[in-house]
Amino acid sequence: MEFEPKNIIVTGGCGFIGSNFVRHVVDNHPEVHVTVLDKLTYAGNPENIAGLPADRVELVVGDICDEDLLDRIVPGHDAIVHYAAESHNDNSIADPGPFLRTNVEGTFRLLEACRRFGVRLHHVSTDEVYGDLALDDPARFTEETPYRPSSPYSSTKASSDMLVRAWARTFGVRATISNCSNNYGPYQHVEKFIPRQITNLIDGARPKLYGDGLNVRDWIHTEDHSSAVWAILTQGRIGETYLIGADGERSNIDVLRAILEAFGRGPDDFDWVRDRPGHDRRYAIDPSKLRRELGWEPAHTDFAEGLAETVAWYREHEAWWRPAKAATEYHYGSIECYISLRD
Ligand code: NAD
Ligand code: TYD
Repeated sequence: MEFEPKNIIVTGGCGFIGSNFVRHVVDNHPEVHVTVLDKLTYAGNPENIAGLPADRVELVVGDICDEDLLDRIVPGHDAIVHYAAESHNDNSIADPGPFLRTNVEGTFRLLEACRRFGVRLHHVSTDEVYGDLALDDPARFTEETPYRPSSPYSSTKASSDMLVRAWARTFGVRATISNCSNNYGPYQHVEKFIPRQITNLIDGARPKLYGDGLNVRDWIHTEDHSSAVWAILTQGRIGETYLIGADGERSNIDVLRAILEAFGRGPDDFDWVRDRPGHDRRYAIDPSKLRRELGWEPAHTDFAEGLAETVAWYREHEAWWRPAKAATEYHYGSIECYISLRD
């Protein structure tokens, strides 16, 4: 029987994917009230949910590690959809500490709150927990692929998944997990690959490509991630993991050249920069279980169209990204992620 939540908490609902999910719920599920719990780190922006109806969405500014706060706000909710995380690989290499705290301890605190108050949990995770695939490997990740995380980010997400599985089995927490591939779309922080290159080009700066540019990511529009999470929250089997992907494998250099083309720039009009340490080669998701069991299908199947809309969104929303741009590029400079090899 379908689970029909009326009051949900969305952790990290002021971040990129969390805020897109909040908007998805407001637009598609009028019976649901959302409490956003967000610490508003550098990656969280209340503007991401500004303008949504006040009787549908409430923002609580706070830390998922704060047990007293969870005791106050969790009772009365039917489910927690857990997006809050430190989410950027390059930051995790520069300073892993916050990743341990938010991704591991934070998930532990939420699990304990779900246990105390009998609340359903959906845990949002990443395909990066499975490590990487060779470019010529015919395989894709499935729910059975062994965990083999490479970075401080992916290892803390893998740890959080393990906690969720243990709390589901040992304490009977009604939990599901999803592991999704790389998201793109509106409201993504300018530190991430696609928005960084788009905003560099708007600024007249050259895009930055790591290593040989042949690394492959399996892109999914964030709106499709939202519809998949809703399907798993309401129809998924308790204790199960579902992989979310939309058959969107592309090399970084192909994505970058598509962005360059959108700006009328030449295909080599970018800087090659030093590779990320431990850089995963390829991610690829086999989403068969999600499609078969829950009948989910992505709506955004044309990547070129989705990318063009995303470029347009950043062109039209400079006031949204501008405040973070200079600090982000300064930070990249300080973590030595873009020392040019060819200058
Ligand atoms: P993001 O960095 O854009 O947003 C993270 C949000 O969490 C921010 O609003 C931040 O303020 C909040 N937050 C951080 N620490 C917190 C804390 N201790 N307490 C409360 N709030 C806190 O991240 P994103 O890209 O939107 O990713 C969201 C989730 O989706 C993460 O769990 C990530 O692992 C997962 N995911 C991301 C991708 C991707 O492509 N970005 C792919 C698959 C899965
Ligand atoms: P990113 O958006 O950081 O996501 P993830 O590390 O989770 O896949 O990076 C996507 C890909 O783009 C990854 O292979 C690293 C690469 N990349 C660049 O080539 N240049 C950049 O400036 C950034 C930020 C990433």
